[in-house]
Amino acid sequence: MHVLSTLLPAVGLLAQLSAAKYSLKDDYGSTDSFFDKFNFFTDSDPTNGYVSYVDRDTASSGGLINASSSNGVYIGVDHSNTASKPGRQSVRLESTTTYTHGLVILDLAHMPGSVCGTWPAFWMLGSDWPNNGEIDIIEGVNGQSSNQMTLHTSSGCSISNSGFTGTLETADCYVDASGQSANAGCAIDNGNTQSFGSGFNDAGGGVYATEWTGSAINVWHFPSYSVPSDISSGNPVPSNWGTPAARFAGSCDINSHFKDLQIVFDITFCGDWAGDSSVWGQGSCASKADTCDSYVQNNPSAFEDTYWSVKSLKVYQESSQLDIDVGINIDVDLDLGHGKGHGDKSKSGKSGQSKSSKQSTRDTAPYVRPGPRPSTKHRRDHYRRGHGHGHVHA
Ligand SMILES: *[C@@H]1O[C@H](CO)[C@@H](O)[C@H](O)[C@H]1NC(C)=O
Repeated sequence: MHVLSTLLPAVGLLAQLSAAKYSLKDDYGSTDSFFDKFNFFTDSDPTNGYVSYVDRDTASSGGLINASSSNGVYIGVDHSNTASKPGRQSVRLESTTTYTHGLVILDLAHMPGSVCGTWPAFWMLGSDWPNNGEIDIIEGVNGQSSNQMTLHTSSGCSISNSGFTGTLETADCYVDASGQSANAGCAIDNGNTQSFGSGFNDAGGGVYATEWTGSAINVWHFPSYSVPSDISSGNPVPSNWGTPAARFAGSCDINSHFKDLQIVFDITFCGDWAGDSSVWGQGSCASKADTCDSYVQNNPSAFEDTYWSVKSLKVYQESSQLDIDVGINIDVDLDLGHGKGHGDKSKSGKSGQSKSSKQSTRDTAPYVRPGPRPSTKHRRDHYRRGHGHGHVHA
C-alpha cells in the first residue's frame, strides 16, 4: 500500500513532464558572435550554382554579413558588382554544433525575396548522407509561391498523409525510392504564400519552428503577426500550436534515420534547380535573360532583397533531467512493488500506417510541381555528393 501511495503521484508528475518540456540549449544571439558558431563553407557549390561562397573576412569586408543587437543578423550576397566566375558572391553557413532531437526556432525579419535566379535554404544536414538524414526546413527557387519542406533518408522511411496543413508531394523519404524521381525524398508544400520569399517578407517575416522527436518531425510557420506568445517569451510548448504545416511521421523510425545534424543557411544562384532550363523557363524569369547565369551575373541590383535577416535562432531540447529523476523513482517503486523490470520508456512510434501517398494536384505553385520534377534528379544527386564533400572540410 505504501508503494502505491508514492507511485500514483509520481505517475501523474511524469505524465505532465513528458508533454515535451523544452529548455534553451543554444541561443545563437544577434551580434557578431552569431558567426562564431558557424563554419563558412568555401568549396565550389555542390549544387552547381553560379555562386562563389566566400569566407568570413571576405563576407564581412564586402558587406555580405553583419550583425548588431538592434538590427539582428544580416546574411546576404554581393548586390553591387557584376559577377565573374565561379559566380556571385554569397555565404553558406554550417553550424559547428550538431543536434539530435530538439526544437529549432528561427525568427526572421526577412528571407531572400522572390527573385529570379535565387535558391535559398535553411536546413539541417548530417554526415554520411543519407544515413544520418537531412531536414530541409525552408527551401525554394525563383518566384516559388510557397515553402517546400523535405526529408531525405536511407531506405525504410515514409510518411503518412495526415496531421499537417500543407500538401503532400512525395511520401517516401528514401532518396532512391521507386516511383519517385531520384533523391526527391518526402516533401510537403506549405501552400501559404506568406511562407516563402516576398510573401513571407510582406507579412513582416515570421517564425519557423521545427520539432524533432523520436516519433515525428514537425514544422510550423507563423507569420510575424501570429507568433505564439510562448515562443516570444522563450518557453515554447509545441502542443499549444495546433496543426503544423508539415508533419513527417508514419512508417519511419525517426531515431534510426536522423542524427547529428548541423544547421545550415545558404543562398545559391541558378544551378541544378533554379537554373535548370525548364525551371528557369517557367513563369517570368525566362523573359529577363537567356540564361539564369547571365541574369545573375549582370544584374547586381536585382539581389538587394536577397538576404536573411535573423532576429533569433534558438535551439531547445527536452529537459530530460526531471523526467529521468522521476522515472528512476517509479522504476524503483515498480521493482519493489511488483517485481517488474525497468519499464521501456521509449514510446513506440505510430506503427505502419502507410496510407497510399496521394500526389498533389495543386496547380498554384508554378515552380513546385507534384511528382517528378525534371531538375530533381540532377539537383539531388549533386547536392548530396557535394554535401558529403563539404562536410569533410567543415
Ligand atoms: C548590413 O549590411 C547591409 C547590406 O550591405 C546593409 O544594408 C545594412 O545597413 C548593414 N547593417 C548594419 C547594421 O551595418
